[in-house]
Amino acid sequence: MATSKTIAFILFLITLVASSNAAKKAITQPLAPAILIFGDSSVDTGNNNYVTDANFKSNHIPYGVDLPGKAASGRFSNGKLYCDIIASKLHIKELVPPFLQPNLSDSEIVTGVNFASAGSGFDEQTMLLSKAIPLADQPTMFKSYITRLKGIVGEKKAMEIINGAIVIVSAGTNDFILNYYDFPTRVEEYPKVSDYQNFVLGKLEKFVKELYNLGCRKMSVGGLSPMGCLPIQVTTKLSKGIPKRRCIKSQNKDAVLYNKKLQKLLPAIEASLPGSKIVYANVYDPMNDMIKHPAKYGFKETKIGCCGGAGLSDMCNSQTKLCSNHSEYMFFDSIHPSLATYTHIANSSYSTLFKLLDA
Ligand SMILES: *[C@@H]1O[C@H](CO)[C@@H](O)[C@H](O)[C@H]1NC(C)=O
Ligand SMILES: *[C@@H]1O[C@H](CO)[C@@H](O)[C@H](O)[C@H]1NC(C)=O
Ligand SMILES: *[C@@H]1O[C@H](CO)[C@@H](O)[C@H](O)[C@H]1NC(C)=O
Repeated sequence: MATSKTIAFILFLITLVASSNAAKKAITQPLAPAILIFGDSSVDTGNNNYVTDANFKSNHIPYGVDLPGKAASGRFSNGKLYCDIIASKLHIKELVPPFLQPNLSDSEIVTGVNFASAGSGFDEQTMLLSKAIPLADQPTMFKSYITRLKGIVGEKKAMEIINGAIVIVSAGTNDFILNYYDFPTRVEEYPKVSDYQNFVLGKLEKFVKELYNLGCRKMSVGGLSPMGCLPIQVTTKLSKGIPKRRCIKSQNKDAVLYNKKLQKLLPAIEASLPGSKIVYANVYDPMNDMIKHPAKYGFKETKIGCCGGAGLSDMCNSQTKLCSNHSEYMFFDSIHPSLATYTHIANSSYSTLFKLLDA
């Protein structure tokens, strides 16, 4: 009797250990071999720290205060960015390192890196002001990445990793803010914003095709946010006549039109590239919903940033005012979303991104 009870108990323990191992495996098994990121400050995890001339750098406190170790990493937010949250949801890794970081380990290379640069855009003119790494040059960095990857895992396996990698492209806002709205250097050439949008989308198409030619197959391409609600844009338009901070409706309308065009363009690009799967990442609607229904997200402030409020220059540093509860603010500085906002965006776009996995 005692023996059979003991055996039963041992069997029970074995089952318990086995099933918890299975559960652990199900949780930790990566859903894609790697993650690769291209774009601007919405996804730059620290490349600009290594770009001497770059005008936008966040390698100082209080950026990064909610990262493990409270370290400023070059991320323009209080914590993880959208792309880090996605990498974590895919069980790939918690933080996606910048490719320019000099000490990247082989395992970081194999599971994917980040080529984005804060202040970057599709229009080369954007870089005149920001001195960022242009989107057009990010594939060049990607090529040296591929060379290093091949050196680690061999040619065949390297291409398998790149073919299976989840690729995130997030850019465009700087093109409109730096060349069209705040410094209208492109307006003479493109008097209608719709024509400038087509110009930017033409560059985006070329960029996506270049990534495809280098082996990328599963891509998520971000649309524009409600740009007219960025604290910096609202401040730019504030005048004595308008005492209240209000979103600039025309800029939001432009973003909606651009996003509609992008949603038509991406399936056309996909159809022209055999074996590709390209999805649209909607950031406009989730952010618009946060602005309209802040309480739903626990936000008390959607009009100014937690750090530095809504300043135009030197937006956020150790001297500027910092809010006490970062999660109550939709924006961390006068341009960039807070960790709370990125978490909600990642949550709402995850089901679309998930479609890349079984493609
Ligand atoms: C690599 O460099 C980064 C950034 O300078 C640093 O935070 C990290 O500790 C370094 N890692 C190793 C393994 O040396
Ligand atoms: C900070 O704000 C978040 C979101 O509104 C809330 O859930 C949390 O309780 C707040 N924390 C403190 C310490 O008040
Ligand atoms: C994100 O989604 C998960 C699962 O659907 C949910 O448990 C979590 O509360 C969500 N988080 C946010 C910040 O929306």
